[in-house]
Amino acid sequence: MKQAMPVKEQQLGPNLTFYDLHPPTTDMLAEVSQSLSAPRPHLNPKYFYDEAGSRLFDAITATEEYYPTRTEAALLEQFSGEIQHKLGPTVTIAEPGAGSCQKVRLLLERWSPQRYMPLEISRDCLLTATRQLSRDFPDVQISAVCADYCQALSLPGDSQPGGQVVFFPGSTIGNFEPAERQQFLRGLHHLAGPGGALLIGADLQKDHSRLNAAYNDAQGLTAAFNLNALHHLNQALDCHFDVDNMRHLAFYNDTAQRIEMHLECLQDQQLQLGDTLLTLKSGTRIHTENSYKFTVEGFSRELVDAGFTPRGCWTDTDNLFSLHLASTD
Ligand code: AVJ
Repeated sequence: MKQAMPVKEQQLGPNLTFYDLHPPTTDMLAEVSQSLSAPRPHLNPKYFYDEAGSRLFDAITATEEYYPTRTEAALLEQFSGEIQHKLGPTVTIAEPGAGSCQKVRLLLERWSPQRYMPLEISRDCLLTATRQLSRDFPDVQISAVCADYCQALSLPGDSQPGGQVVFFPGSTIGNFEPAERQQFLRGLHHLAGPGGALLIGADLQKDHSRLNAAYNDAQGLTAAFNLNALHHLNQALDCHFDVDNMRHLAFYNDTAQRIEMHLECLQDQQLQLGDTLLTLKSGTRIHTENSYKFTVEGFSRELVDAGFTPRGCWTDTDNLFSLHLASTD
């Protein structure tokens, strides 16, 4: 791996190397205090994903209403051959925010790249996932990189012929605000490097009732997922959220073209944030997530604006979800 900075590298198995970029630890108390006391209280969606939250998210993806995960998986299953044909032989697949490295398995099976480079901030998650993956794919060199998004995107791409294919599935791109999104896509362009490409999932605009249902499943798993961010904060910061007096809200904002998730206070409550008390009035809404929805044309244009050349786009017959392939030059 080409490195922007010296990193400790550890050989963990015949085909598994671990690079620790030591992602800077954030001051959670300061960050949360600031965002909750802002004129429009909000929380970063990253706080959804403690252990319980990750399990809840997995459960959401299995609900009838939440179509993105299964639709994207079906697109990959159906079109991986066609995508590979457009790409030519793939040397390296890089995946920022790889998590449990599940979705890439299909590509490793079908494309047999020389190398897979997951970049993930959670060291435990990365180690657990890649230890298993390295056993299941003994012919793939796995370079596991512990890094935050910012570090990941400043890594220079491989300039080998065939380049590096950056895989960014799940419509995670929808969590970014438009301006950040452009910056992030430019970062992915940098990571892919000369001769490289991006394969990215983007959820599509559609019937509002379908969108609203996907974030208000009948089993209440999305509500539990949203509320779990508060349990997470209570555990980490001992801030005394009265979770039973908070309500899950999710709705499509047509003007902004995004699903918004909020948590609404049903009674006045007081939070303990370090040495500071913060009062949340009944009716206060904490904005916890935006999930932007795209059109194929709009998203392609954003790829172009970030320096990519669109090479293909695949959608399901119901036009629920899109997979975009773009090259860096
Ligand atoms: C993981 C960001 C793609 O926006 O659909 C699912 C997160 N939030 N249900 C999404 C989520 C509520 C999900 N992403």
